[in-house]
Amino acid sequence: MANFDTVIRGGTIATASNVFEGDIGIIGESIVAVGKDIAPGDKEIEASGKIVVPGGIDSHCHIDQISSTGGENAETFESGTRAAICGGTTSVISFAPQFPGVHIKESTADYHKRAEGSATCDYSFHLIVNRADEETLEALPALIAEGHRTIKVFMTYPSNRVDDEGLLKLMALSRRNEAFMVIHAEHHEMIMWMMEQLTNAGLTEAKHHSWSKPPLVEREAVHRVIAMAELLDLPLQIFHVTCDEAAEEIRRAQHRGLKIFGETCAQYLVLTEDDMDKPNGEGAKWICSPAPRTKAEQAAMWKHINSGTLGIVSSDHAPTNFAEGQGNKLPEGPNTPFTKVPNGVPGLETRLPILFSEGVNGGRISLEKFVEISSTNPAKLFGLAPKKGHIAPGADADIAIWDPNKKVTIRQEDLHHGINYTPYEGMEVTGYPVITMSRGEVLWQDGKFNAKAGRGRFMARAPYDYIKPNGNFPTPFNPFA
Ligand code: URP
Ligand code: ZN
Ligand code: ZN
Repeated sequence: MANFDTVIRGGTIATASNVFEGDIGIIGESIVAVGKDIAPGDKEIEASGKIVVPGGIDSHCHIDQISSTGGENAETFESGTRAAICGGTTSVISFAPQFPGVHIKESTADYHKRAEGSATCDYSFHLIVNRADEETLEALPALIAEGHRTIKVFMTYPSNRVDDEGLLKLMALSRRNEAFMVIHAEHHEMIMWMMEQLTNAGLTEAKHHSWSKPPLVEREAVHRVIAMAELLDLPLQIFHVTCDEAAEEIRRAQHRGLKIFGETCAQYLVLTEDDMDKPNGEGAKWICSPAPRTKAEQAAMWKHINSGTLGIVSSDHAPTNFAEGQGNKLPEGPNTPFTKVPNGVPGLETRLPILFSEGVNGGRISLEKFVEISSTNPAKLFGLAPKKGHIAPGADADIAIWDPNKKVTIRQEDLHHGINYTPYEGMEVTGYPVITMSRGEVLWQDGKFNAKAGRGRFMARAPYDYIKPNGNFPTPFNPFA
């Protein structure tokens, strides 16, 4: 008689700390055994020659979200989570954005409705808060207690930004309510000023996007928000770090013992500002914020990943269609000025293949590091561990099986997202997920996706130790006593 519902047999199992040959026994939705030559399963998955890792966790992806620069995006929770699974990701943390004039309770409830009945993998939400008014501050504690344990703040974008005074209020609220904060850190006024100067000089092509926001605007905002966090003894994560000087701010904070965490994204490991230098508006495909940088900055990102300063590589999947449909990248046609291009690039499905190919097969990171930055660290940092992000008895059977030698040329026509382009068209990657399993159910196998819309579950996040403040303040005064 079989002991297990499913056994994944003879694979190279990789966790964030170990790589070993073995089998995984699954009953129902959970891993119940990891070992060698374990008993048979009702279903046996042969994994010799393959790499078996915890399913990816994409802790920064915008799904079904109105962009900060305007317009609906083209992704639903059904298409977004489908793309995630086909790229080896089994959990996503997306956003529930606050809308102008709408109570945050209503906008959050609206996002639950968008995901329920639609998502095919498990999901959670960061709450994007764009005003620190009384109504919002009053509503947030209950929303946090319901399991929306992260507050996301933009320090830039006219429609979404929160100024420093508001940010301090939200930080204090987060500290009091055991919430974590994630920050889009760029200096707003400098960017707005540069946009105006560039526009006046007639420099409005896609490539000028990066001129409007050089690394120093990122470095300044990262420095500032870290100082604010230090004042309040508040752990937080800086989203999408792109350059050495911003990462250095984080490294210095970490060396002071602060719980400041850093994330970069796959695009900042492979795209550069030159990608935006294309004619007829095509460069808009690569416009995202912060802007893609240089090869030297890419090398710096790998260095900071390996040292642990940047602990997560996410997608920041921010989907807008290219040149058609509502909210597309070229609302005014090929000559749309970069200031009117919705920011962000799609990448939920391609994040892990790019990271595996460029990182592991490219000799830049170990397999353990791949697991750490794509799954284990997001699980720990966002309160999903130990159920998610690890291969061990008791964890959810969220598993991806990779063929490390499979060569794939990334083509829009082969992807499963709802967007009409990929910024990685034609890129060849080596290594691809051939099976993705979520809670014991195989949803992606040998190029076929099969999952019932709505099977994904909301992951409410309770308070957790990883983000507990240190209890150190810069003066003898504890503002929270
Ligand atoms: O350009 C980007 N990254 N757009 C998505 C929203 C954000 O800034 O994270
Ligand atoms: Zn951002
Ligand atoms: Zn983002």
